[in-house]
Amino acid sequence: MLIVIKLLLFAFVSTLVTLFLFYIHFVFIFDTYFQWFLNDVQDLQEYDYIVVGAGSAGTIIATNLAENGHKILLLEAGGTAPFFLDIPLLGSLIQNTIYDWQYTTVSQDYACKGLINNQSRWPRGKILGGSSRLNYMAYVLGHQLDYETWFPDFDEFTKTDESISISKLKWNTDFADIFLEAIKESNHNISDLNLQLNTGFMKAQLTMENSKRWSSDKLLYKKFNNHLTVLTHAHATKILINLDKTEGIEFIRFGNKYTAIGKEGVILSAGAIESPKLLMLSGIGPKEHLKEFDINVISDLPVGQNLVDHILTGLDLIVLNSSIGLNLSDIFNPMSALSYFLFGKGPWTSSGIEVFGTLYSPLQTNKSVAPDLQLMILPFGASKDNGLISKKAMGISDEVYNKYFAPLLNQNTITIAPVLLHPKSKGELRLRSNDPFQKPLINPKYLSNADDINTLIEGLYFIKKLMNTTTLRKYGASLNKKSFPGCEDHVFDTKEYWKCYIQHLTLTSYHPAGTCRVGDVVDETFKVYNVKNLYIVDASIFPSLPSGNINAPVMAVAQKAVRFFKNKIAEKKRKLKQLKSSNVCYVFNICSNMENCDRFDIFNLVKKKIK
Ligand SMILES: Cc1cc2nc3c(=O)[nH]c(=O)nc-3n(C[C@H](O)[C@H](O)[C@H](O)COP(=O)(O)OP(=O)(O)OC[C@H]3O[C@@H](n4cnc5c(N)ncnc54)[C@H](O)[C@@H]3O)c2cc1C
Ligand SMILES: *[C@@H]1O[C@H](CO)[C@@H](O)[C@H](O)[C@H]1NC(C)=O
Ligand SMILES: *[C@@H]1O[C@H](CO)[C@@H](O)[C@H](O)[C@H]1NC(C)=O
Ligand SMILES: *[C@@H]1O[C@H](CO)[C@@H](O)[C@H](O)[C@H]1NC(C)=O
Ligand SMILES: *[C@@H]1O[C@H](CO)[C@@H](O)[C@H](O)[C@H]1NC(C)=O
Ligand SMILES: *[C@@H]1O[C@H](CO)[C@@H](O)[C@H](O)[C@H]1NC(C)=O
Ligand SMILES: *[C@@H]1O[C@H](CO)[C@@H](O)[C@H](O)[C@H]1NC(C)=O
Repeated sequence: MLIVIKLLLFAFVSTLVTLFLFYIHFVFIFDTYFQWFLNDVQDLQEYDYIVVGAGSAGTIIATNLAENGHKILLLEAGGTAPFFLDIPLLGSLIQNTIYDWQYTTVSQDYACKGLINNQSRWPRGKILGGSSRLNYMAYVLGHQLDYETWFPDFDEFTKTDESISISKLKWNTDFADIFLEAIKESNHNISDLNLQLNTGFMKAQLTMENSKRWSSDKLLYKKFNNHLTVLTHAHATKILINLDKTEGIEFIRFGNKYTAIGKEGVILSAGAIESPKLLMLSGIGPKEHLKEFDINVISDLPVGQNLVDHILTGLDLIVLNSSIGLNLSDIFNPMSALSYFLFGKGPWTSSGIEVFGTLYSPLQTNKSVAPDLQLMILPFGASKDNGLISKKAMGISDEVYNKYFAPLLNQNTITIAPVLLHPKSKGELRLRSNDPFQKPLINPKYLSNADDINTLIEGLYFIKKLMNTTTLRKYGASLNKKSFPGCEDHVFDTKEYWKCYIQHLTLTSYHPAGTCRVGDVVDETFKVYNVKNLYIVDASIFPSLPSGNINAPVMAVAQKAVRFFKNKIAEKKRKLKQLKSSNVCYVFNICSNMENCDRFDIFNLVKKKIK
């Protein structure tokens, strides 16, 4: 009987999902034609700065600089978000649609063996708001030690910001509370990690405003600013560099090629994948690699190297004997919709993540180093939706799904996922060709360093210990003892088994970074080495991954960049003023205040004027 109800429910849900997908495609096509019809882009327009990419970082940079009085062009390859996407629950539905770049990594040698072709799927937002439009909304600043060297004022800096909307959970399953009780029982701390920036656990905080998704494109609608030009459906294809000076950008919109001039510079915020790609296409990258594609080398820099990402495992690993996690009938109950639209409450306000925390595994004894593990608690797994959404989103192979996940449908499974915070494995991103519309080759080389596997095994051991607390035992918590397909030769719950399990069920936490690292590709002022007027501000410049989800740190870095650009501009104005007065001093040859007379500058200025 229950099975019949469930099957009916799935049929209903899958109809709704299909309708929703139809709707967002329709909106996309409508938006595209509308923009095409209105297209009045002129070639060779001049701006102070051109920002490429309207994602987490780009929108913050563009809106703030425009507010400061600068003429800004913001280019975005994607379109505008359809209306219903603000419902937190629906965020993951735009994965694998036209609003997603839909990357996949190359086949992994040491990981992802339970996924189709051993490849990890990497969604990225191709939409105003970028990946902040399709992320799971967790707002996590990380650990103090992440920022000490390259961003020392991080802590004080993030506490004073009000432009980003952060909210507590408006609804959670009973499991969230039960889990935290178990954490307390095992003597781990519960506190507001975003205030403490240390280890411990907490209920998630989300980028959410009035129960709606807050994504960074919301800044664009906040106030109208005539200094800011936003162009959607505009795909940047090349940075224009004359000798060593950046002049502007070339982009394609509705099949036409345009050039825009950035007098003060070009700022790349195209994300950890497209920013390095654009650099390489424009002649900045590893020399030998660029030569393969006959790209004229402007600067030989390790672009695309040091690609790092957070990975996790443990999907559906915990089985309970009572239904305290998320269930579909909860979600599709008409009352849930009503409660969302009328009161901004209930399961529709949920993005999936309910609790998270960080800890030191026994392998990380040096507490002067950032913690090595995060736990993310999701009140569901891939089995809950009958393969409708999660399976496709994660690229789980049919064989694995049918053997491992499908049989769990009638059990109460939940996910406590250990996340590897500071992987030792480093990957790389390379061009596939010199065609700007081709996806690059992404190879994170997951688990190529065996230490990474051992750390994740410690994460699983920690979870095992938690399940032995009286709190969780009350709910009959146990490990899902089914052997993972491919690991049947190993005895369940041995170290060898877990190694195999992790190498099969290797999932991205969606945080690629490091491909244009500070120190390698850009300096601490966000400027690309050896090239004038070219800057990068997005996840690609992170020197290493933070000890938590990456969106909050990306936004904080963008704000740091804004402050830097504003200071730079103010400094320039001040210098100009000083030069002017010095000039007067030179012309009349009466220098009342010699300290302010910078003769070298004066000389240059006069020379320039004569020229
Ligand atoms: C499914 C998913 C879930 C996630 N969940 C979380 C979470 O819960 N918490 C968290 O902290 N982080 C999460 N993240 C990660 C986080 O959202 C991203 O790391 C962050 O948004 C990256 O910001 P960014 O500015 O570097 O790039 P993006 O936000 O990706 O912005 C890049 C923008 O540039 C545009 N662009 C790219 N190339 C071009 C071009 N050539 N021309 C014009 N425009 C271009 C893109 O379309 C995009 O809009 C998640 C990510 C994903 C994909
Ligand atoms: C994926 O991994 C399996 C197991 O290691 C291997 O047999 C298979 O050839 C790999 N497939 C690809 C496409 O690399
Ligand atoms: C909990 O916090 C206290 C005080 O900050 C600290 O001394 C202790 O080590 C923490 N415990 C754990 C398990 O992190
Ligand atoms: C869904 O969860 C609710 C409580 O949150 C429970 O009462 C109900 O029985 C569950 N339904 C199913 C089908 O598991
Ligand atoms: C712990 O790490 C810090 C910072 O990297 C380092 O300076 C220190 O030597 C390390 N201590 C030990 C005992 O390894
Ligand atoms: C569970 O806890 C009991 C004591 O409460 C202990 O004897 C047992 O070894 C623990 N089991 C595991 C797997 O940790
Ligand atoms: C779940 O298991 C625990 C421990 O075995 C038991 O006390 C509890 O009654 C069970 N609950 C249900 C709903 O079966």
